[in-house]
Parts: sequence; C-alpha cells; structure tokens
Amino acid sequence: MRRTAIFFSIFLVLDFGHVQSNSITSESKLPSATEQPHRTAFHFQPPQNWMNDPNGPMYYNGVYHLFYQHNPFGPLFSNQIYWAHSVSQDLINWIPLDLAIAPTEPFDINSCWSGSATILPGNIPAILYTGIDSENRQVQNLAVPKNLSDPYLNEWVKYTGNPVINLPDGIQPDDFRDPTTAWMADDGRWRILVGSQKDKTGIAFVYQSDDFVSWSKYDSPLLTVPGTGIWECPDFFPVWVDSAKGVDTSVMNSRVKHVLKVGLFDYARDYYMIGNYSPSKENYVPQNELTLSTLRYDYGKYYASKSFFDPVKDRRILMAWVNESDSEADDIAKGWSGLHSFPRSVWLDQNQKQLVQWPIDEIEMLYENEVSFQYKKLEDGSLHEIQGVTASQADVKISFKLANLEEAEEMDPGWVDPQLICSEQDASKQGKFGPFGLLALASNDLTEQTAIFFRVFQKNGRYVVLMCSDQSRSSTKNGIDKTIYGAFLEIDPQEDEISLRTLIDHSIIESFGGGGKTCITARVYPTLAIGGDARLFVFNYGTESVVISELNAWSVKKAQMNVQTP
Ligand SMILES: *[C@@H]1O[C@H](CO)[C@@H](O)[C@H](O)[C@H]1NC(C)=O
Ligand SMILES: *[C@@H]1O[C@H](CO)[C@@H](O)[C@H](O)[C@H]1NC(C)=O
Repeated sequence: MRRTAIFFSIFLVLDFGHVQSNSITSESKLPSATEQPHRTAFHFQPPQNWMNDPNGPMYYNGVYHLFYQHNPFGPLFSNQIYWAHSVSQDLINWIPLDLAIAPTEPFDINSCWSGSATILPGNIPAILYTGIDSENRQVQNLAVPKNLSDPYLNEWVKYTGNPVINLPDGIQPDDFRDPTTAWMADDGRWRILVGSQKDKTGIAFVYQSDDFVSWSKYDSPLLTVPGTGIWECPDFFPVWVDSAKGVDTSVMNSRVKHVLKVGLFDYARDYYMIGNYSPSKENYVPQNELTLSTLRYDYGKYYASKSFFDPVKDRRILMAWVNESDSEADDIAKGWSGLHSFPRSVWLDQNQKQLVQWPIDEIEMLYENEVSFQYKKLEDGSLHEIQGVTASQADVKISFKLANLEEAEEMDPGWVDPQLICSEQDASKQGKFGPFGLLALASNDLTEQTAIFFRVFQKNGRYVVLMCSDQSRSSTKNGIDKTIYGAFLEIDPQEDEISLRTLIDHSIIESFGGGGKTCITARVYPTLAIGGDARLFVFNYGTESVVISELNAWSVKKAQMNVQTP
C-alpha cells in the first residue's frame, strides 16, 4: 500500500510533456480481394503502410492494448518510426486509435523504437521505449497515459526528464535498445533488460530502479554470448514448471523457471533459453546454450516477438513480427508491409526442456463450416482434397498415425541441419515415412502449393521426426524469398501420433507440429491459388502408408482488423 502511495505521488509531481496531436489521418480505402489477394483476414495488420515489431502489449482495465512500430507515411521502413496503437476486447477484432508516441522531442526526434508496457502499483501503465535522439544515439524514454479514466488510453505523454536511461560508456550509439517489461523482486526494486552488443558479443544489460524514473545499470549484465551480434527485443518472463497457465512477470518462486528470449538481428531470428534466475545477484543460469542451432520460438519467419501476461485467462500470450518475403516494389504496389503472427499461448513443456505454443482459443469465434473425418488411410502417392472449407482462410488440425515404424529409413549421419535436410529433401522427393502432410494454398493444377510435411527416420535406435514447410512452389511469381524451412520435432512417434495444426490466411501459413512443440511460419504470394480458387489437400508421397486418425478443418471468417467502424 505504501508503495502504491509513493508511485501515485511520484507520477503526480513528475513533469510530463504536452500531448501533441498525432492524428495523421490515413485514408483507408479497403482493397478488394482481387486487387489485394495477399491481404490477410485474421492476422494483425494496420490499415496500410509499414509495420514491424509488436510493442507494449498489455491488458488494462478490461481492454487489450497493442502498440506497434509503424511508418504512417509509406509501406517501407523509414527513419521516422512511430508507436501506433490498437485496442481489442478479444485479441481478434481490433480498433485503430491515433498514433500514441511520435518522434517529436530531442530524445526521440529520429524515431520511437520498440519497448514495453508495465503496470505499476496504483494501476498506472507506463511505457519504456527506445528513442533515437537528435545525435542519433539510442536512449530509453518513459511515457504514461494522459488520462487514466479514458478507457482506451488514447493519449500518451512523455516524461520531460527523458531520457531516463542514457547510452552506457563503451557502447556504440546504435547498439542500445528495446527495454523489456519490468519485474519487481522481493526487495521492491524494478528491473528491466536492454539489448546491446560489444564487439559482436550480444548483451542483455540489467537496469534497476526504485521509482521507475531513475534507473541505474547493474554491474554485470544478465547474460552475454560472444559472436551473436546485437540482441534486439529481449523478453524475460517466468513459466510454471508444472502448469500450462501463465505467470505474471514479477512472480519468483521454486515453481518457476525463467525464459530469456533474444532477437539476433544479424540472423533475423528469435532464440530462447530456459533457466534459473535469482534476483539477489541478478544471476541467470540458462540450462541450454545459445547457439545458432538451439531453441527458437519458430523456425520460419518470426522476429521481434514480445509476450505479456493475460490475467483474464491466466495465460502468457506471444506475438511477433512476420515480415514480407516479396520485393519492395511489391510492397509499394500493395501499399503495406508486415504482419503480426496470430497470438499464441506459450508455456513450458512437461519435459521442462522447451516451450510449447498454441494459437489462442479466441480463433474459434471466427470458425464456420467445420469439416471432419476419422480414420483415413493415405497410401503411397495419395492426394486427398479437403473440401467444404475456404482454403485461403482456414484452420486445419490433423493427427497422423504410423505403423511398422521399424521400416523407417536410417538417417544419413551427415544430416544435422534440419532446414538443409528439408530443402534437399523437399516435398517432391519420395521417402519411406514421408513426405506426408498438408498442401496449402494449392492451385487447381498444383503448380502453386505450399507443403507442410513430416519425415520419420531412425538414428541410433531412436526415431527422428523432421517437420518442413516448403515454399519452393508457393508462387509462380519470381523475386520472392521461397526459402524452405525445417526443424526437428521432439516426440516419439511410437508413443504419440504426429499432429499438425496449420493456420492459413492468404499470404501467411503458421504451422504447429506435435501440439505446438515445433512451429514454422511462412509467407507466400500465390497468383493462382487465391481467394475462392485456392485448394487444400492432405498428401502422402512416402512409400509407407500413413493413417489420418482424425482431421478437423474450419473456414475462418474475417476479423474486424483495424478498420474504423462508422
Ligand atoms: C478523462 O477521460 C474521461 C473518460 O473518457 C473523461 O470523462 C474526462 O473528461 C477526461 N479528462 C480529461 C482531463 O480530459
Ligand atoms: C525480412 O525478409 C527478408 C526476405 O525474406 C529477410 O532476408 C530478412 O532477414 C527479414 N527480416 C526480418 C527482420 O525478419
């Protein structure tokens, strides 16, 4: 209670600047499906123009808030990045608001980059974000809502004493960014992380504060890893060791482990570690190493992710930026660039060695036309169409059952990099167990198709399950990044069926293997398999038959996505 009073008084006496009118009106004429076949129906995106990282997601007084990195003036990245702002009651339908934070002050005049929201005692939300200052230095700034009674928190004011954190000595001016959501330990002090690097060693600096305004750098960083380059958008949060529920960011006890996620800018990939955190010495001991072949949230396109605790359903929700794979000229023609992944719940797997992710249940609000069947045997070379759902806007769940696994091929000992195996053994190469899976966004004659599939091998007396997403035939168009993605799926196919869930939304395909143990997100740009012309199949091109023990598929309706309702 005392702390609450302190926060109230501190924020009352602090000087927060005036709100400028940020109402850049965007004439959002809605594109038609034929003009804009790659516009999505239920993925988060602005009415138009450039978007990158999700920022400051939070639930506050009955409303979900999501901010995002935005260039309100065009479809490409620029040196004038703003915080745009949307609100939602259900994380599905979003209402666009005025820009929340604009580059206007000496401490952020050259862009307002990513950051996080923390709800302070007294129920006061506060944003920490990176400003690019007038000298092009990255500094950390504070902003709070102008009017806490405004249900949408439309206007935000910047603390006039910004920056609250200056560039540390010995760090390059453009290597210091993306403050995390803060957590408070038993000693009553707030902590945040800020991403950085020195001589290619990735760094997560810890800053501490008693009042959220004056911050001091802790002597040693939380973690450093040589050779990984700058760490962007760090995220640090607890997960229960024995429950799939979420944990609020400040909870610390023997029932939690801590996840540290960092975005490796040099590789455009998000990696995470699971470990034990002790706040007294700011000591974090990850149980897995950070290397280029270790744990990732997603083995496709998925970057700058951020999570938040949702008290409504007691879960931790994760979203990320999924960038375009087409050209800048395409983005100019489309008038937009960038999506966010569909929100996922995230928790620690029972084996405590990796995370599990699953699309939030709210997607069911958009379901229509369920199609389902059970027990269908797919012989060698079979292709079976899933009819009755809108193949360009769908959610598909399949369980594959395999028999006679002792017949599985021995894995080539030289095959270590799963992405490389998937690109060498793409969906057209016949094996024994596999490729089998789903053909999404397929054209009538199958010239266009994205195959999400599995292969099962034996290695040292164990089974290895490989999951791939093959974009090589996803579009007849050239000049598109059609990289094939792949990852191993840590399940035992003798014990468990191999499950696949795939969300298909015009130009994004998000796939979840093994109940969310391995996730792969891809961007695709079909020219034939668009709208009502897209088709959906299950297939098996392996010589061994596989059985679909169950399949459920739904058409997914369009969400109210940042469209102004009259
Ligand atoms: C704050 O928001 C409430 C609710 O929208 C409104 O009634 C009130 O007038 C606002 N106060 C100020 C100072 O704008
Ligand atoms: C965006 O997409 C391009 C092309 O697919 C890729 O090379 C680049 O690394 C991506 N950037 C991020 C941050 O994902």
